[in-house]
Amino acid sequence: MSNKSREWNSNLWPPFTQIAKSTPPERVITGNGALLMRENAPPVIDAISSWWVTLHGHSNPHISSAIASQAQELEQVILADFTHPQAEKLAKRLSKLSGLQRLFFSDNGSTAVEVAIKIACQWWQNKGEPRQQVIAFEGAYHGDTFGAMAVGERNLFNAPFEKMLFPVSRLPWPANWWEEDNINKKEDLVLDRLEGLLQTPTAAVVLEPLVQGAGGMSMVRPEFLKKVEVRVRQANALLVIDEVLTGFGRCGTLFAFQRADIKPDLIALSKGLTGGFLPMGVTMAAEKIFSAFTGTAPQSTFWHGHSFTGNPLGCAAANASLDLLEANPKQYENFEARHLPHLKKLIKHPKVEKPRITGTIAAFDIKVEEAGGYLNTAGSILKKIAIQNGVYIRPLGNVIYLLPPLCINDSQLEQCYDAIHKGLDEL
Ligand SMILES: Cc1ncc(COP(=O)(O)O)c(C=O)c1O
Repeated sequence: MSNKSREWNSNLWPPFTQIAKSTPPERVITGNGALLMRENAPPVIDAISSWWVTLHGHSNPHISSAIASQAQELEQVILADFTHPQAEKLAKRLSKLSGLQRLFFSDNGSTAVEVAIKIACQWWQNKGEPRQQVIAFEGAYHGDTFGAMAVGERNLFNAPFEKMLFPVSRLPWPANWWEEDNINKKEDLVLDRLEGLLQTPTAAVVLEPLVQGAGGMSMVRPEFLKKVEVRVRQANALLVIDEVLTGFGRCGTLFAFQRADIKPDLIALSKGLTGGFLPMGVTMAAEKIFSAFTGTAPQSTFWHGHSFTGNPLGCAAANASLDLLEANPKQYENFEARHLPHLKKLIKHPKVEKPRITGTIAAFDIKVEEAGGYLNTAGSILKKIAIQNGVYIRPLGNVIYLLPPLCINDSQLEQCYDAIHKGLDEL
């Protein structure tokens, strides 16, 4: 089907889309592994895991059958007066894997972050030491609910609500890439400024560990995060990490914080949590946090919950996804080595700069004359060329990245890089 014959659906309101400037979407009928089967068009490789969620591939049989059998047992139950085996199993596993004992359920990445921020702020209240300052980073994206927007970078996306967002102290993000000579200096500047901000009593420092996703697949060195952690501990603040994108092997370790050898107090998880099958968010909390919420005073309770809290289908999917990750950790541990030769080849292209890889995520910037950033059109031209070559990518302005499902095979990965190469040639 050509673009001309495609039409906008008159009932759907598409996310992050200005229909006056975009082409109508294509219809996908099935998914299998790394492939999406389009109506009336050849299959395409889903090189961005459908907004970074599809972990083991589309329609993975182990996860889909776990959901199907759970649906025949128990599809949903209120998690306040009841619990159920899948939720208990998931809580036990994630608590062991993350080192944080308590699991609080919500529905998506934004709510997992929202919950983490609310818990962090109320924790200080419950301890009788209310603290207002929250520190976050330039370029951060934590979701689209109000609290998540507040900690995210202020930009075009949240401009209409700016006056309604709570104030946040902001630090530069010392992005790193291959042969970035200035990295020590950049990090030291940020660490100095962090020390300065931490002179004010601080509720929490919030960050995306190792990779800022929507902020342009912007990567930092693990040792930088370690230095941040040391300062956060010295100031007795809480460390809240948003692993919505980076969790579940995406950064080469099960959680990104493990690669940076840090120990957070609160972790937000979603996306790959259910293998990308069902919407679910969780916030993991250290026991010392939870214990300040127990007591007879009504105000010590965390008065927060969602209708679908701990949905059994989502829990079954998450447990099945963890089975797969535990059965084959090499799949994510070795992914970086699979990207490496391709990116090394690609950087010879004169239009490529700032190459970088962390785990399963590979990225670079297209060299542009005008300003880079989300609204730069270089990426959208490349996206069109890539899809004609059987590869679906969704650049962030002039940032091109690959974030494929773990199951992608070598020839499919090669096809992704070839398609990008062709696109660069035609730019
Ligand atoms: C790091 C990070 N946090 C939070 C979110 C928000 O997640 P959701 O879209 O599921 O609300 C995203 C989404 O891309 C993300 O990348």
